[in-house]
Amino acid sequence: MHYFKNFYQIRSNEYILDKLKKEQESIGYYKLPFNDTTEIKEFADSVNRQTVVVIGIGGSSLGASAIYDFLKRKNNLKKRLIFLETTDPIDINSKLDSLNLDDTLFIVISKSGTTVETIAILKYLSSKVELNKSNLVVISETNTPLHKYAKEIEAKFFEVPKNVGGRFSVFSAVGLVPLATIGVDIDNMLNGAKKVYNNFFKKQKEYDILMEKARFIVENKNRFNINVIFSYLSALEGFNKWYVQLWAESLGKININGTRQGLTPIGLVGPIDQHSFLQLIMEGKRDKTVTFIKVADFEEKIVIPKNSPISELDYLEGISFSKLIDMQADATIEAISKEEDIPYDVITIDKVDEYNIAELMFTYELLVSIIGTFMQINTYDQPGVESGKIILKEKLKALKWYF
Ligand code: PA5
Repeated sequence: MHYFKNFYQIRSNEYILDKLKKEQESIGYYKLPFNDTTEIKEFADSVNRQTVVVIGIGGSSLGASAIYDFLKRKNNLKKRLIFLETTDPIDINSKLDSLNLDDTLFIVISKSGTTVETIAILKYLSSKVELNKSNLVVISETNTPLHKYAKEIEAKFFEVPKNVGGRFSVFSAVGLVPLATIGVDIDNMLNGAKKVYNNFFKKQKEYDILMEKARFIVENKNRFNINVIFSYLSALEGFNKWYVQLWAESLGKININGTRQGLTPIGLVGPIDQHSFLQLIMEGKRDKTVTFIKVADFEEKIVIPKNSPISELDYLEGISFSKLIDMQADATIEAISKEEDIPYDVITIDKVDEYNIAELMFTYELLVSIIGTFMQINTYDQPGVESGKIILKEKLKALKWYF
């Protein structure tokens, strides 16, 4: 007889909480909101250049990009932030062409200091502008090739702690330095994350919400293996991308029983995706959970005017756009709720500021840690992305003979 098992025990909430507390001895992201920000703020205050460019990819760019995307339309940020993430030559050149290189601060971010995309762009950049301690900041682990380069040119260096993984690094120097430099109140941002940490570990409201949500997702993961976020705020598009990375790279794993685990993240934006993906949610396979994210106060008063020369849909007149989008979200939620077999929840954030986005992001980091613990996987590694990197590096090394 042959026996193979694909069981894992659904643990008690207490067990999970203890595991998460213990995990903090080796996993560094939990305590990042409590770090001293003095050095980062002092550095940010010293920056006079008007544009800041981040060179980095994945966990080294998505977090800051999500927060910048969230804040840039509403908050009066002092400076422009641009991300050079891809090796797409059109993207690189069009972004560089839009810059005054002499008025730009470059922040290169790579935990490993050896990422192909980041180093390739940095090399290209160095052919366009002289990189030196006046215009380059390096963020990396210590003793990486990038750290050595920073020492050579005496560039300002901020460390990424070894025990903080890229996709969990937004509240380290990786996110804080670029955001502080363009004028984001990083202390208020960290306050949002601290609040979630404190409430969760003191077993307050956040604890019950996250435990219940994680347990539902894990217990029903074979039926509902797709987790949709439906954000009714365009400023959350960057957050959606960050969520996709956090969820996919953390939770797509082989577990301790050797079986494949995977929850598929999808990021949608309302009302745009009401005219697209919503059909699949409503009439497609019942394999999705949906989390709606709404904002309570857009702090934006524009109204559809009365007595418009366009007589169609006259019932719209006099309604503010913030009311309209809120009603659109509620109508979609009601339609889904009537189906009765599509699990959903609704997160309403108070307003568009750094405190609220940090609260949301830290909540998702904790949720991923809880789900990973339930599923008995290593939430923090990413062995699946390594083999393609190794193949690429071998092929690139072989090419060197031709050039
Ligand atoms: O989450 C992760 O670990 C990855 O997405 C990395 O952040 C990404 O591969 C970039 O790596 P690095 O920061 O070493 O350049």
